[in-house]
Amino acid sequence: MDHIRTIEWRDGRVRLVDQTRLPGELVHVETDDFRRLGESIKRLEVRGAPAIGVAGAMGVALAALECDATSTDELRSCVREAAAHLAATRPTAVNLTWAIDRSLRILDDPANATADAVRDALVAEAIAILEEDRLLCRAIGRHGAALLADGDGVLTHCNAGGLATAEYGTALAVIYTAVEEGKKIRVFADETRPLLQGARLTAWELMEHGIDVTLLCDSAAASAMARGLVDKVIVGADRIAGNGDVANKIGTYPLALAAKRHGVPFYVAAPYSTLDASLATGEEIPIEERSADEVTGFGGCRTAPEGVAAFNPAFDVTPAELVAAIITDVGVFEPPFGETLFRKDRSS
Ligand code: MRU
Repeated sequence: MDHIRTIEWRDGRVRLVDQTRLPGELVHVETDDFRRLGESIKRLEVRGAPAIGVAGAMGVALAALECDATSTDELRSCVREAAAHLAATRPTAVNLTWAIDRSLRILDDPANATADAVRDALVAEAIAILEEDRLLCRAIGRHGAALLADGDGVLTHCNAGGLATAEYGTALAVIYTAVEEGKKIRVFADETRPLLQGARLTAWELMEHGIDVTLLCDSAAASAMARGLVDKVIVGADRIAGNGDVANKIGTYPLALAAKRHGVPFYVAAPYSTLDASLATGEEIPIEERSADEVTGFGGCRTAPEGVAAFNPAFDVTPAELVAAIITDVGVFEPPFGETLFRKDRSS
């Protein structure tokens, strides 16, 4: 299966699929300006935890190329300022700060003695993060596919597919690999209010790959489970705390509650870098609050009365006790996550 390149580095410029325009049109944003790339992250032109990690590292590289400093000290402070700007664009996905911090470590590496050496190394690091993401998503797919049986109905939320990563996805990687292995899988995609990543992106990318997908309103998920249509739920993650609590797109937590009620295993698929060992529980995960306009209307059309108050957290936290397993690139982790997650030697 050929998968779309969500984000690429091309001759000193970043080229990304503008996800706000899908499924209507497949167009790209291309820029050599790290501030414009920061706007792309904020506006969700590029979105999904792993993809914004790649974008963050590329933004750091763009900032280094743009800064005309000749001394390494000057370049370092230029790049650090840009990195802080990029890291502040979206707070919940740890992949963004993880990738930016990884790039910033280049600045302190004595091997990069000149400003140009630092620039080259930052570009190489951003490309390495992208290439690693491509490979690790395949590994997530391989580990997770073993959990799916031929004929399964699998429900997913938001978009944790190729569009949320460099190209293959996390939750959808599990489905892609199972299908490549010859299993027949029927996917149920939650539309994912308020920005409809499930309807606009997941339905689109699964259909592009000829995978059987049925779209449903978020509020229909429990009914689909009650009717026995759903054998497994698989979602992505923006950050996983040390005890296994999972932050993901708003609406994930009620899905996990419904899955528990109906005896449906609830799986989370994510790169190992989505684990944040510095946080003991999900209560410490910063949750992005987005504009009320996203709830009171869609696509420029107002759907709620003028002046109504709106509550718009972009993510929620699913308690670890509702999660059957966490599927990563280094293996599948089962509860109790507090004991298992940091044993990185897993390979099954
Ligand atoms: O606000 P978004 O569209 O960036 O939210 C994305 C999600 O919640 C995804 O499920 C998560 O980032 C995992 S992506 C592989």
